Amino acid sequence: MATTSRLLLLLAAVCLLAGAADALRLPPDASFPGAQAERLIRALNLLPGASSGRGGKVGAGAEDVAPGQLLERRVTLPGLPEGVSDLGHHAGYYRLPNTHDARMFYFFFESRGKKEDPVVIWLTGGPGCSSELAVFYENGPFAIANNMSLVWNKFGWDKISNIIFVDQPTGTGFSYSSDDRDTRHDEAGVSNDLYDFLQVFFKKHPEFVKNDFFITGESYAGHYIPAFASRVHQGNKKNEGTHINLKGFAIGNGLTDPAIQYKAYTDYALDMNLIQKADYDRINKFIPPCEFAIKLCGTDGKASCMAAYMVCNTIFNSIMKLVGTKNYYDVRKECEGKLCYDFSNLEKFFGDKAVRQAIGVGDIEFVSCSTSVYQAMLTDWMRNLEVGIPALLEDGINVLIYAGEYDLICNWLGKDMLKKTICFLESFCKFSSS
Ligand SMILES: *[C@@H]1O[C@H](CO)[C@@H](O)[C@H](O)[C@H]1NC(C)=O
Repeated sequence: MATTSRLLLLLAAVCLLAGAADALRLPPDASFPGAQAERLIRALNLLPGASSGRGGKVGAGAEDVAPGQLLERRVTLPGLPEGVSDLGHHAGYYRLPNTHDARMFYFFFESRGKKEDPVVIWLTGGPGCSSELAVFYENGPFAIANNMSLVWNKFGWDKISNIIFVDQPTGTGFSYSSDDRDTRHDEAGVSNDLYDFLQVFFKKHPEFVKNDFFITGESYAGHYIPAFASRVHQGNKKNEGTHINLKGFAIGNGLTDPAIQYKAYTDYALDMNLIQKADYDRINKFIPPCEFAIKLCGTDGKASCMAAYMVCNTIFNSIMKLVGTKNYYDVRKECEGKLCYDFSNLEKFFGDKAVRQAIGVGDIEFVSCSTSVYQAMLTDWMRNLEVGIPALLEDGINVLIYAGEYDLICNWLGKDMLKKTICFLESFCKFSSS
């Protein structure tokens, strides 16, 4: 009760501020998370085929896989150059055991280097965006040329690692369930699913179980990764199932500690000449209520976290009003069309019958970014995931926080502060930086 009334006060304070500051107010659809999600996801350029979700969807090649089992196939993707059919490329579905009917899609690309290379799992953010965006546009083995052939990515992480790209949470990419109860709402649900997957993955590929293992990803994976790393570490400590040789985790331009990162938006925007000093002062008025709201949210709040999301995103939305059509993943660029980036080749690629047949997805719709997954995770958004990291560092698990300097939405200024916070907490950094 006390919390609720404080929340109301907080929202009232924000409205007052908004009244005073004219252009600043909660978006008219603030009380409708669905609409807000859709708008934000659009704002996040989250793109073609961004679609409602997955409830009731059937018709994949994974219909007959038993709970807790993998259905994996060796893949030669159409469009590859001649003579490269002997690659260790795989695609599969994992039927998640602690769900009613959920199936998790993944790609597994064995290293172009050597078998002993580390095993790496990559998680794209969103929440609700497919890791296939990374496969074909970021750090995967190849890119899709305009003539629909695949061209090698010389920066593909598969050159030095055996890399897994998963579509998660359920409803993302090609992952699906026929049962809405399988929707995930928090990091506990997300990390348990990923842990279950790893257990079965290494049973299927025992030759890789002794390799070093790393958890990686970007953006909203700044939430997934610390939770998943903790889950794996706990599993190891309790001798649950197969020991996972977790050596470290890496977060690129991630959202991990909102209290630090939301404060950094205006500083970053001013530094990059995206806003003027007057805008800076005006928008900064939202920081104290945002900080307060985040404190109420903590690590496991519910309604309070939703309120924090509403309050704090006013900061980002206000900046975006001034930034206009600039691409906030790379402020040097303008958005290309209404989606900022053009992912149409991927849509076309996954629309191809031969490709679908090769990867075993039947007629499951490809959801590049799911608004319903995004929406389902809204109470998770403002939670602080930094708190679990010191314990991992203490036990010798390495962390890499990296950031591209032109990304506004998860900018380096916030990252730098995160790094400093961790260093402040951990003597580990004293050793590593000396
Ligand atoms: C398709 O485009 C790629 C990249 O531009 C090029 O290397 C390749 O030769 C083209 N393939 C065909 C069949 O035209």
